[in-house]
Amino acid sequence: MQSMTPRQIVAELDKYIIGQGDAKRAVAVAVRNRWRRQQLPEQMRQDIWPKNIIMSGPTGVGKTEIARRLANLTGAPFIKVEATKYTEVGYHGRDVESIIRDLVDLAIGLVRGEMIEQVKEPAEKQVEQRLLDYLLPSADMQSIGTIDDEAAEKRKRTREKMLEQLRAGELEDRSIEIAVEERGNVVGVLGQAGMEMDIEFQTMFEKMLPTRRETRRLTVAEARKVLLQQEADKLIDRNKITDEAIKRVEQGGIVFLDEIDKVTAADSKHGADVSRQGVQRDLLPIVEGSTVITKHGPVKTDHILFIAAGAFHTSKPSDLMPELQGRFPIRVELSDLTRADFVRILKEPENALTKQTIALLGTEGITVKFTADAIETMAQLAYDVNRRTQNIGARRLYTIIERVFEQLSFEAPDISPAKVRIDAAYVQEKLGDIAKDEDLSKFIL
Ligand SMILES: Nc1ncnc2c1ncn2[C@@H]1O[C@H](COP(=O)(O)OP(=O)(O)OP(=O)(O)O)[C@@H](O)[C@H]1O
Ligand SMILES: [Mg+2]
Repeated sequence: MQSMTPRQIVAELDKYIIGQGDAKRAVAVAVRNRWRRQQLPEQMRQDIWPKNIIMSGPTGVGKTEIARRLANLTGAPFIKVEATKYTEVGYHGRDVESIIRDLVDLAIGLVRGEMIEQVKEPAEKQVEQRLLDYLLPSADMQSIGTIDDEAAEKRKRTREKMLEQLRAGELEDRSIEIAVEERGNVVGVLGQAGMEMDIEFQTMFEKMLPTRRETRRLTVAEARKVLLQQEADKLIDRNKITDEAIKRVEQGGIVFLDEIDKVTAADSKHGADVSRQGVQRDLLPIVEGSTVITKHGPVKTDHILFIAAGAFHTSKPSDLMPELQGRFPIRVELSDLTRADFVRILKEPENALTKQTIALLGTEGITVKFTADAIETMAQLAYDVNRRTQNIGARRLYTIIERVFEQLSFEAPDISPAKVRIDAAYVQEKLGDIAKDEDLSKFIL
């Protein structure tokens, strides 16, 4: 996964995002660079810093979408956060170090998932046996010590038969009682007093809490999941998970910092208060490379890749703190979408709005067909409305499509089955007048 070439990464992104070639290439190269660095000798590796990226561009042109799709592509731990969600240390709100802690948690989940997959087969075997124990409890208990051959043979047969039934899925709804262990958690115990507890203290405290044993009544199907977790946990090495997760974060982690423009001083009239600007100061050491204490251990951030994005309507990347700017040497600008882009966005992506609409109405027995000029008309209207009212980029297409299909969406079950042809005249009829009237389109589209 990690070794996808830049061209392959761009090709994957192309499936969902139209245009924005520069941004796609920049992120693809950055991701590939992680892999390149891994191939080098340790000593050389240490000196190669990631080249962080700032993506800027108008609203609704694909910045966040690129990040989202990239996250699915890279096997690397990847987290997307909004800069505006954080506040300077000492203010009420989340501190930026929690980004790294969340990234580690995420990586742990990732690594654990992989390791569980590796031990799945033996774990499942164990689970089967335990389910049988639960399903046939008394037979086992009574006969301990005093079994004769015949009884033992009989028990064996019963167990075998039960196993067959279990494998055939015939016992899924049977209910059984199983023991589950739960470790208390500090937040639960002390209550959420609105305080962010010191992370080391929290970990220490959690270790002191007793694990609670509880019995729970579950169906076999539900119990299987719980038991699989328990058995897999026995087979995998927790320390190995932690070590591997931290290693992956340190060597390959990617943080996508959205809405970075909203924490600049120039954006203060848009609600960026003092504590927000302070966020930049707090971000600096993390981006420059420092050690963040997490409950799984210290994590070095030196080689984590940061991709920041923002619309930069009222501010510019140069309004960021100089030190921070210096840490984001790669700037890519996403372009405004054209009418032709809108046409493609409506038709081409794997999750294109027209495809979604066809699929959704298909479930009602309505076969929708778009003519080419219908799509062009919608694109044109979206473009016009964006220009005349507020430019919200591709998001406008959502409101346009909603309008066009409002009536059909409502009536679909009544007229089903039916074939509906959406042509330019249909689109015009649904929203021609609205789109022409500035006040009306502001309100409705
Ligand atoms: N170039 C594009 N190709 C395909 N779909 C797009 C494109 N740009 C935007 N979209 C669609 O429009 C929606 C909004 O895009 P996105 O969230 O990426 O905007 P953004 O650039 O992050 O804007 P903002 O600055 O407001 O956060 C997404 O659902 C996405 O599917
Ligand atoms: Mg966005």
